[in-house]
Amino acid sequence: MPKVTLITPSKEKVILEDAIGTLMEAALDADVEGIDGDCGGVCSCSTCHVHVAPEWVERVGPPNDAEADTLEFDERTNSRSRLSCQIELKDELDGMVVEIPNSQ
Ligand code: FES
Repeated sequence: MPKVTLITPSKEKVILEDAIGTLMEAALDADVEGIDGDCGGVCSCSTCHVHVAPEWVERVGPPNDAEADTLEFDERTNSRSRLSCQIELKDELDGMVVEIPNSQ
């Protein structure tokens, strides 16, 4: 199970050890600032938006189609954007770092 680091909108570094499920679920379990997961993980709210650290973008991979459609309507979207509800925490992502953008 991977260890992941989230940098909150307040620039606080939160480290989740042995995170399971999706990144959104793990962040909600840890009550991480800036991750709300309002739609429950069905790609319709973007309240789980993260910017993947540049060195992790390739390994995390691009957004899926539904995710890309939702991100299109979020002004915080950039080339490193993902919806954390669509990131399954796998061992390959051990050490991943993401930043949580400010709320809209
Ligand atoms: S929880 Fe709503 S889009 Fe991820």
